[in-house]
Amino acid sequence: QKPVTLTTLGKMRADGEKIVMLTGYDASFAALLERCGVDVILVGDSLGNVLQGQKTTLPVTMEHMVYHTECVARGCHRPFIVADMPFGSYHETPEQAMHNAARLMAAGAQMVKLEGGAFMADTIRFLVERGVPVCAHIGLTPQSVNQLGGYRVQGRTDAGAARLKADAIALEQAGAALMVMEMVPAAVAGEVTRSLQSMATIGIGAGADCDGQVLVLHDLIGVFPGRKARFAKNFMEGAHSIDEAVTRYVEDVRAGVFPAPEHCY
Ligand code: KIV
Ligand code: NA
Repeated sequence: QKPVTLTTLGKMRADGEKIVMLTGYDASFAALLERCGVDVILVGDSLGNVLQGQKTTLPVTMEHMVYHTECVARGCHRPFIVADMPFGSYHETPEQAMHNAARLMAAGAQMVKLEGGAFMADTIRFLVERGVPVCAHIGLTPQSVNQLGGYRVQGRTDAGAARLKADAIALEQAGAALMVMEMVPAAVAGEVTRSLQSMATIGIGAGADCDGQVLVLHDLIGVFPGRKARFAKNFMEGAHSIDEAVTRYVEDVRAGVFPAPEHCY
């Protein structure tokens, strides 16, 4: 099968075909996700939580992200690989962001993801102009958990929703091709999605009206011991294998039946 590219993802959005993203951190699972039909593998800094046992993603380093990106890249061929830029690796200057993004691209990423709204626009433009595709991330941004005061739904008020919408437009204009929206009311995420021209939205706890969905692998297969978020469906329930669970996730996202109302805000 032909590798998924930025062009493929743009065409999927234009055709109304859902983009299926899932986190992956190693070669064996990258191969499994590939054979189950996952379009985009996110090497998320959630590896701090699910692999390292950290309470937040803040301790994750560039070295960790490079290592896991290399592991994933060796394990698969078709999926588009997105790597998270860890806390502190892109906040100082656009030059610092470019330096660290280049390390992730050299490790096998085809796009980098960074958290933040309109204030990240200059950094995103700097990266995109230099050949680094960017996925933005708004709503609940876990690297800002200390500023946000916990892991809670964002954009619930009219002012909050308006800010998400303005952020999304600024990020699209800066050149971001994808944007994760995390823990945002489904109605708000749908409205943001419809207000964009070309940037594809990927929801996690953001309703079914996004252009695609993402989950953390360990939540999907029910092995994460922490408290389960409302949006984190365990697809192993009723499945006989991890392959079957991931395949069901892929099918349910494509069919628009995941997330269901009970996974949304
Ligand atoms: O790190 C991660 O897994 C993420 C997803 C939850 C979007 O950023
Ligand atoms: Na992340």
